[in-house]
Amino acid sequence: MSDKATLIIDGQKYDFDMITGTENERCIDIQSLRDTTGCITMDPGFANTGSCYSSITYVDGAKGILRYRGYPIEEIAEKASFVEAAYLILYGELPKADQLKAFSARLKEHAPIHTNLEHHFSGFPKSAPPMAILSAMLNLISCFHPEVLEVPTTGAEFDRTASLLLSKVRTIAAFAYRMASGKPINHPNPHLTYCGNFLHMMFSDPYQEYEVSPVVDRALNLFLVLHADHEQNCSTSTVRVVGSSRANLFSSVAAGVCALWGPLHGGANAAVIKMLEDIRQSGRPASYYIDRAKDKNDPFRLMGFGHRVYKNFDPRSIILKKQVYNLLEALKLDDQLLEIALQLEEATLKDDYFISRNLYPNVDFYSGILLRAIGIPLNMYTVMFAIGRMPGWIANWKELHDHKLRISRPRQIYTGSRARTFVPMTER
Ligand code: SDX
Repeated sequence: MSDKATLIIDGQKYDFDMITGTENERCIDIQSLRDTTGCITMDPGFANTGSCYSSITYVDGAKGILRYRGYPIEEIAEKASFVEAAYLILYGELPKADQLKAFSARLKEHAPIHTNLEHHFSGFPKSAPPMAILSAMLNLISCFHPEVLEVPTTGAEFDRTASLLLSKVRTIAAFAYRMASGKPINHPNPHLTYCGNFLHMMFSDPYQEYEVSPVVDRALNLFLVLHADHEQNCSTSTVRVVGSSRANLFSSVAAGVCALWGPLHGGANAAVIKMLEDIRQSGRPASYYIDRAKDKNDPFRLMGFGHRVYKNFDPRSIILKKQVYNLLEALKLDDQLLEIALQLEEATLKDDYFISRNLYPNVDFYSGILLRAIGIPLNMYTVMFAIGRMPGWIANWKELHDHKLRISRPRQIYTGSRARTFVPMTER
């Protein structure tokens, strides 16, 4: 393989270094392009643009491969808890028993939020979208931790800030749900697991402690593990862009929450359920919706299908589909939406529009059915995605600071007016 790429512009040759990644991904290093050629590249949506070097997650979209720090997602999903997976993503290695114990203790220690913060929840209207509350409260928390508004990326300070965010994101989510439902908040219980504590804060009532069933605890762990990181997706790239200005970790992940909110990204899990509900209520066949998704004049898209990187099955959707079956069976639940989802998937696998565009179910297609079975309300689905993605956001923010930090500042091609002189009001 050549270690050089040659560009010819107006008859002049320019050589650029080729970079090869761990898995032989190839890349043209164009860091000197503008200085040597005076040109920039154009790549709306950055589908062909590498923004960074990273050792956290590897995705092979053609083969449907996803690995966290080299471990296949299938193994992590089967064998690791979310806390173990979060530690692996943050620190690069699976935790030893004493490291896991210390990490879990930090998460327990940081679960409560300052009582002065609690009244902020009652300031939100009951209809406030939980993602707006989550982003706001993540920024608000930083006001109670002025010591971390600097850039703590090393040692104990990073460990503390990372654990604080990983733990409190759960508490904020649960408090937001309880306040919106007009129910008293449940303070964290340090004797419960990460997921058990979240379910307790969400669903315990004054006279009835929520009973965490092992099958639900397992399902929630799996959901969070599968969402823990996914290389340079929209929200993680947002965290990196914000962090590149040396903004603190709280404001960087709060920005990530906002990027995740969109229906093309993390908001898709709730959009899938709304779509499946519409199909169920309309009584129309799946083919009606498939035709709409194919119609260029119809803005309707098959939510939960397609992916910028996966041009094969998203391995997470395969794992989630299996887990949904197990969970519904264990809880003796029957969800008609699963039946509709299976019909849609089957129909697309035979339809050239989807096959020719490599449109397969992504992580969001089955994840909502799992959350429904657990009893999570629809408007909390993307919040659940954010809880899962927190380790990935934090690890990418840290990696940004561990490398030579450059502020993100893309260029553009200007297509506006040429220079012109100001027109006084009387002549406009
Ligand atoms: C996530 O990046 C990540 O890693 C994200 C994520 C993570 O873990 O962080 O994996 C999580 O966000 C998953 C994606 C969730 N979003 C959805 O399910 C929304 C529905 N899907 C899409 O809108 C779309 O597929 C995207 C946004 C996921 C990808 O968009 P791209 O790569 O920009 O692709 P595109 O919009 O250019 O589509 C290419 C073609 C187009 O048709 P043509 O112009 O070639 O004729 O495929 C069509 C699109 O119209 N197409 C769809 C479709 N998705 C793409 N047609 C119908 N239904 C769809 N869902």
